Amino acid sequence: MGGTGGASRTAVMVCQGRAVAHGRLARGRFDDPTARAFLLPAERSIVDKVRSEAVPAGWGPRLTFEMVRACGEVMAPRTVAIDEAVRQALPATGAAPAEPGVELAAAAQLVILGAGLDGRAWRMAELAATAVFEVDHPASQRDKRDRAGELAPVGAAPHFVPVDFSRDDLAAALAAAGHRRSVPTIWIWEGVVPYLTRGEVTRTLRIVGDRSAAGSRLIVHYHTPAPSAPLGRGAARLLSALSRQANPMTREPNRSVWTPAALRRAVGVRGFAVTRDDSLLTLAQDLGTPIQHRRSLRNGRILVADRVSPPA
Ligand SMILES: C[S@@+](CC[C@H](N)C(=O)[O-])C[C@H]1O[C@@H](n2cnc3c(N)ncnc32)[C@H](O)[C@@H]1O
Repeated sequence: MGGTGGASRTAVMVCQGRAVAHGRLARGRFDDPTARAFLLPAERSIVDKVRSEAVPAGWGPRLTFEMVRACGEVMAPRTVAIDEAVRQALPATGAAPAEPGVELAAAAQLVILGAGLDGRAWRMAELAATAVFEVDHPASQRDKRDRAGELAPVGAAPHFVPVDFSRDDLAAALAAAGHRRSVPTIWIWEGVVPYLTRGEVTRTLRIVGDRSAAGSRLIVHYHTPAPSAPLGRGAARLLSALSRQANPMTREPNRSVWTPAALRRAVGVRGFAVTRDDSLLTLAQDLGTPIQHRRSLRNGRILVADRVSPPA
């Protein structure tokens, strides 16, 4: 990973996307005032240009501008779908049926896997009574804690759990941080699966399954295979190199894509039944948010799966 002290740059980019969308896209359904607060001044200034449609002159600045603008379009439906899946599984709002006739127990713990600059613990009032565990790569987590500064969480401070999914013991780290295996958990895994190998994804799913009491909910954002994706990434790399702009994807390459059927099987063997699996394109159409980057929206999906039986 490539930012401050090796912190994730893609985490900054998606945070910029949320800051761009805040108050402009999906109004009434999407709101993230924390996104701007997590950004450094130079990162904010690009957001301000996009929000005011101040298209910069020159290739390099234009490339960064377009990446951040496109990110706003993707982040609005992605955030709304995940926020709503979280709210449904929280005690205060009652439970959504996991399957016809099966009630989802209300979850009292939230684990955010690869949290980046996720602002939910600081912005979702519904989480005031929920124990939040933020798991992330140690470098990204250090960076976030510096950026959070005096920002006040809605409830107790999140438990920060530094874990590199490619080498650390997630189960031991969660247990040491106070995560309880016997209590239902909501798991958010947003924008991380693409950066992990298939082996790292299945290994993490095994631990998630093992630590999910009945009534737990797993929410995964993932990318589906797209023949044109490597071409698009190659073009972005080339343009970044030519214009001498930092490309967040260079240090964080995509490592795995999943068909909906393959991910359904992978979560199914860990005891989760899929209740929703929508493309961001469908979600954007339902929300009425802009659809200028149809391909990116089509290739991103949000899966929601519920645990109806306790772990073996
Ligand atoms: C695109 S950001 C997404 C951040 C956040 N979930 C969001 O949607 O705003 C990718 C995140 O995955 C984390 N990540 C990538 N590879 C990782 C690894 N091997 N171990 C732990 N975290 C990792 C990065 O640190 C970063 O926070």
